[in-house]
Amino acid sequence: MMVLETVNLEMDGPVATIFLNRPAKKNAMNPQMHRDMNQVLDTIEEAGNVKAVVVTGIGDSFSAGMDLEECFLQPFDDPQLFYRTNLVALNWFKRLKAFPAVTIAKVNGFAFGGGVLVTGICDLAVTTDTALFGLSEINFGIFPAGGATWAATHNLPRKQALYYILTGDTMTGQQAQEYGLVNKSVPADQLDAETDRIVRKIVKKNPVTLELAKQVYERTTMMDLPTAIDYDQAKLWELSRLSGNEWVNVALKQFEKRAYQPGLTTYSRAEARS
Ligand code: COA
Repeated sequence: MMVLETVNLEMDGPVATIFLNRPAKKNAMNPQMHRDMNQVLDTIEEAGNVKAVVVTGIGDSFSAGMDLEECFLQPFDDPQLFYRTNLVALNWFKRLKAFPAVTIAKVNGFAFGGGVLVTGICDLAVTTDTALFGLSEINFGIFPAGGATWAATHNLPRKQALYYILTGDTMTGQQAQEYGLVNKSVPADQLDAETDRIVRKIVKKNPVTLELAKQVYERTTMMDLPTAIDYDQAKLWELSRLSGNEWVNVALKQFEKRAYQPGLTTYSRAEARS
């Protein structure tokens, strides 16, 4: 366990778990937390073998968003300080969005502002039925910035995104599932098990395939179909080369022997090279 001032990092083979750790402040993200987050992302990247990154909060909150005092109020009168303070945050938000491993938000309680942003930029998200999400920026006079509006527009249907942006109302975990902000909302005592269930599926996959599948998803959302098809084909050859043709040499060979049904489960990577 790596213990920083405001964030803990647990590394367990292919799974890294990041714990936001300012429970007395509902895990509001202060400048120190932004610095710590950059540091743990460095550590995970340097390890090189992580396939799944879980982000969660210690205590009864995932994150109450940006620390309104330390990030906004206190540095506001010094433009350079304000800029630099928030740049550290924006930097790890962008890094998390483009992270090579699969990112999973395990939303264990309040998720406001930046908490919704982190939920939205993670690839997957699980929460509890009673968790509360809110784009509360309008309640203190701004619109959701730093990528939070992006997180809303890319995870919620238009009317719901605009409703929560414009009213600052909260939504429960169950509503978040209904609208698509999270994959699943479960009773609080099932949050760990539900997250583990997803993680166990992810870690069985080839890491190169996971990384390229994410890239293809992100890039092709901005392409027309003929361009996307050409891009997919090029990426498939890249995947083959980078993975030693594992999909043909291992996965499809196992299928040929009827060792498994790809429609229902994944192949065994025991014979794979990495
Ligand atoms: N920035 C700074 N401090 C925050 C914070 C934030 N975003 N969110 C919570 N805190 C602090 C509270 O001020 C309080 O500090 P104190 O003990 O020094 O008074 C402490 O965390 C505990 O919060 P509290 O309000 O007592 O807990 P609660 O369970 O009654 O309510 C919230 C939790 C999340 C509903 C409430 O704290 C809140 O509205 N926070 C702001 C959420 C927000 O607007 N975030 C958007 C930021 S972009």
